Amino acid sequence: MKQHISKVAIIGAGLVGSSTAFSLLTQGLCDEILLVDRDAERAHGEMMDLRDGIDYLGRNIRVTAGGYAGCGDADIVVITAGPPPREGQTRLDTLGLSKEIVRSIVGPVMDAGFSGIFLIVSNPVDLIAQDVWKLSGLPKSQVIGTGTALDSARLKALLGGLVGVDPRSVHAFALGEHGDSQMVPWSRVTVGGKTFAEVLRDNPGRFEGVDLDRLVHDTVQAGWEILKRKGTTYYGIATTAAGIIKCILHDENRIIPVSTLLEGEYGESGVFCGVPAVIGHGGVQEIVRLPLTGAEEEKFHASCEVLRGFVKNL
Ligand code: 2OP
Repeated sequence: MKQHISKVAIIGAGLVGSSTAFSLLTQGLCDEILLVDRDAERAHGEMMDLRDGIDYLGRNIRVTAGGYAGCGDADIVVITAGPPPREGQTRLDTLGLSKEIVRSIVGPVMDAGFSGIFLIVSNPVDLIAQDVWKLSGLPKSQVIGTGTALDSARLKALLGGLVGVDPRSVHAFALGEHGDSQMVPWSRVTVGGKTFAEVLRDNPGRFEGVDLDRLVHDTVQAGWEILKRKGTTYYGIATTAAGIIKCILHDENRIIPVSTLLEGEYGESGVFCGVPAVIGHGGVQEIVRLPLTGAEEEKFHASCEVLRGFVKNL
């Protein structure tokens, strides 16, 4: 019986792309990893380095380096290529250069016969995902941006640390733009089954002065605090990308806030942004519609408007 060989192609063998490959490799999440980079020697070097440790891993995984032709039979193509924002820039400021780089990738990948799922990491991820969806002609379920999946993980770590629980016992989403305008629907945040409001109410002394807006600010700023110290980020986003890939390849149907096209959900249309979605073998299988308060709807709409202002430049 012919076993399906799960293959992930990673376009961009820089820090984010190679860290994504390393995360897939050490977790044993797929059967084959292809690295593609316009600097072929860089891709080849990363392949060699990644291969070296396989003897100490739980399973063998084929790691190769090559060109776009190798993307045709991939289950997932991850696009990580693009410039990190410079000090003082926003992710949106990198749209021009990022769009140019990504547009040079999509055509050759589709020409190779690719019919799988694109996972977009390149920033500004919501707009780049929308551009790839438009250019590829693939169904929207098959073009996914990492969206606010990383922001939500940062928020959960923040709240877990505040309350003193494992972040995985916190259910919280950041929604909207993977950027400064994202918002948190606090009415939907729970810790071990209690709403966050109940956690604060039941421990008045302990959480004196907890400021929800400050918590959102700290979530939004987390990427910049890292960039300020090490020049860019890669482990968090790489692990997030690997988590989404695991969901797809293992058909997990986990709910993750990824960037996907809204067509009326949350009262928004024609824009990719971070919303909770069921992720499985088919990619985005269903968008989860959280009931938001009026104030939350306003903040979510404002974030979509920020993105819509750039969509016309695509
Ligand atoms: C971050 O926030 C790379 O945009 C990504 O770390």
